[in-house]
Amino acid sequence: MELSTTLVEQTIQNRVREIGINPNYWYPVAWADQLQTGQVMPITIWQQSIALYRDEQGQVHALENACPHKGVELHKGEVKADRLVCPYHGWEFNPNGECVRIPYFPPQQKLPCAQARSYPADEKYGILWVFPGDPDLATAGQIPEVPEYSDPGCLMIPITGRFKSHFSISNENTMDVFHGFLHKNLQGWFDPVLLKLKQSDSSVEAEYRVSYRGVLTKFLGLSTQDGVTTRTVSIHYQYPHYHSTMEGVSSLYLMRLPVSAQETRSFSLLFLPQVRLPKQLLQIIKPILMPIVRKLLFMPFLEQDVEMMESEQQTFSRNPQRRYVEVNPAILALQRVLIRQYEQFVQQSSQLEQKTDRSDRFKPRESAQALEVLATSEQTLGGSGR
Ligand code: FES
Ligand SMILES: [Fe+2]
Repeated sequence: MELSTTLVEQTIQNRVREIGINPNYWYPVAWADQLQTGQVMPITIWQQSIALYRDEQGQVHALENACPHKGVELHKGEVKADRLVCPYHGWEFNPNGECVRIPYFPPQQKLPCAQARSYPADEKYGILWVFPGDPDLATAGQIPEVPEYSDPGCLMIPITGRFKSHFSISNENTMDVFHGFLHKNLQGWFDPVLLKLKQSDSSVEAEYRVSYRGVLTKFLGLSTQDGVTTRTVSIHYQYPHYHSTMEGVSSLYLMRLPVSAQETRSFSLLFLPQVRLPKQLLQIIKPILMPIVRKLLFMPFLEQDVEMMESEQQTFSRNPQRRYVEVNPAILALQRVLIRQYEQFVQQSSQLEQKTDRSDRFKPRESAQALEVLATSEQTLGGSGR
C-alpha cells in the first residue's frame, strides 16, 4: 500500500516500546567464526537463553540453555561428537535435545524421558542464525537474500552493533533519514526529502533523496564540480531485518537481534560495489581495508546513533507514560509493522494453544503477558497514528 509522504505531526504510541518480537523468523545470533568446531556458547533471543554449539562435523545446533535434569546451563558443558554434554552429571543430549546417555546408567537401563527444547539453526553469509519460534514454520528461505555475498570482487565489511535500547528504537533509527543533523560534524547527509513510502503487514519501503558533500563524498567517489552530490537512498525493512542502498554507492544488510526489552544487537554486512578490485588483490588487501573503512566510514556514525538511541531509551524508561510527537510517516509505518507482527504472533500462538496441546514443544513464554499488553493498550496504530 502506497502511503503519503507528507510530513505532518503525528503522535507516537508508546506501546511500540513495550511489545515483544514475532519469533517466527530467523534471527542472527553470532558471527560464524566466533564458534569453532567443538565449542559451545550462550546466546539470547528475546529473553530466551540458548546454548549454541558446533559439533565435531562442523554442524551448528541450538538447544535450550537449561539441562532437563536440574537446569544447569548447557553452554557450560562440552561437545562430544554431535552431542552436548551437561557439565554437572554428564547427561548427553543429541541435536534434537533428547537425553541419549547417562554415564552412570548400566547399558541396558532405560533412559528417563528428558528433553531440552531444540531450535532450528543455520549458517549463512558468515552468520549463525536461529529460529526461535514454531519449528514447523522455519524454512531456509526466510533468511534474507544477500546476493553480493557470493561476489568475490565486492568489498564486504561486517559490522557489529550493540545498543542498550528496545529494538523498536534501533529500527526507527535506521528508517529515520531526517537525522542527518546529528552527523553534521562527520559531513553526513543534508536536505533529506521523503520521496516514496510503501507499507505491508511485514514490510516498509521508503525512498529518500539526500545530498552529500565533503571528505566522505570524495572518498566514495561522488565528487562533483560544486562538491555536492544528490543521491537516492532506498530503505527496505522486511521484518525483522533491513536492506538499505545508496544509489550506486553502497548496499547495507542490517540483521537485527532483539536480546531483551532494553538490549538489541545487530549484525550488518556493508558492501561497496564501486570498490571493485581484482579478486586476488582484494583478498590480499581486504584484512587491511576492512577495519580502516569500518573505523573511518561507519563507526563514527554508529557511535553517534548509539548515543541517541540509548538516550531515547533512558528517557522512556524513566517515564513510559510521556507522549512524543513524530512527523515522518515512514516511522509511523514502521511502528505499525512492528506492532502487527507482534499481534500476529500472539494471535497465532493463542489459537495454536487452543487447538493442540503442544506446550512441551513450543510454548511462547510471553503469550499470556503479551495478550495482557495488547488487551490493555490502545487500538492498533491507525493511518494517522493519532
Ligand atoms: S544437571 Fe545436567 S546432568 Fe545433572
Ligand atoms: Fe545515523
